[in-house]
Amino acid sequence: MTFKEIVNYRRSVRHYDENITLDSEKVKSCIELATLAPNSSNMQLWEFYHITNPEILEKLSRACLDQTSAKTAQQMVVFVTRQDLYRSRAKKMLELETQNVLKNSPQQKHEKRIKRWRQYYGTVMPIFYSKFFGIFGFFRKLIAVLIGFFRPTMYQISESDMRVVVHKTCALSAQTFMLAMSEIGYDTCPMEGFDSRIVKKILKLPFRAEINMVVSCGIRKSDGIWGERMRIPFNDVYKRS
Ligand SMILES: Cc1cc2nc3c(=O)[nH]c(=O)nc-3n(C[C@H](O)[C@H](O)[C@H](O)COP(=O)(O)O)c2cc1C
Repeated sequence: MTFKEIVNYRRSVRHYDENITLDSEKVKSCIELATLAPNSSNMQLWEFYHITNPEILEKLSRACLDQTSAKTAQQMVVFVTRQDLYRSRAKKMLELETQNVLKNSPQQKHEKRIKRWRQYYGTVMPIFYSKFFGIFGFFRKLIAVLIGFFRPTMYQISESDMRVVVHKTCALSAQTFMLAMSEIGYDTCPMEGFDSRIVKKILKLPFRAEINMVVSCGIRKSDGIWGERMRIPFNDVYKRS
């Protein structure tokens, strides 16, 4: 399929054929492609839970309010945000970027470039992602407002803003996954209709992990798609300047 065909093929499927099983390895390879999605500062504060066990699928279906898309799903992938892992991810990224500089940059630029990465992942990222009952975020925002008097700056750095950043990033990986699934003729449905407390309990997730989306997977049945695709007229949303 061409990219255009893949995008057109992807639909939110609400009823899967329960007689057709999916190849778990193929689904796993789509999850691997999802990790190539763009993500904020390459911090990759996400995790992907690939559910193939029928007992867990049944529990998850209940947690997804028994929507038919969940009930008939052959497999599910739960997209999870892990803002709490910011220190270990920043440390890993510093390691990887340092190796990258040593491998690909001219020798005379090593020191300067490694120092820049050390500042970014060693100082800036921990400052941006740290949380303490909204207080750290309040001070970050205050500093941004002060800087904003003198030059353009980023204002969306409060603690709730950073939560949005992590969820945005995770949603991009979910979309990449769904398109990868379409490419091999597998269907999906993204769901936010779920009980996050139950989903977290089923997956034994720590308190600070958050569920971004549950994506059900299977092969569409003829009644699996709810009618024609409907979008607001393009000219209502397309602004050109
Ligand atoms: C964040 C998000 C949450 C969604 N949650 C649900 C859901 O809980 N149940 C459902 O049936 N569809 C859900 N959908 C699917 C949308 O209803 C669907 O994408 C939209 O109607 C457009 O249809 P299409 O995906 O076939 O183009 C969700 C989609 C997104 C992006």
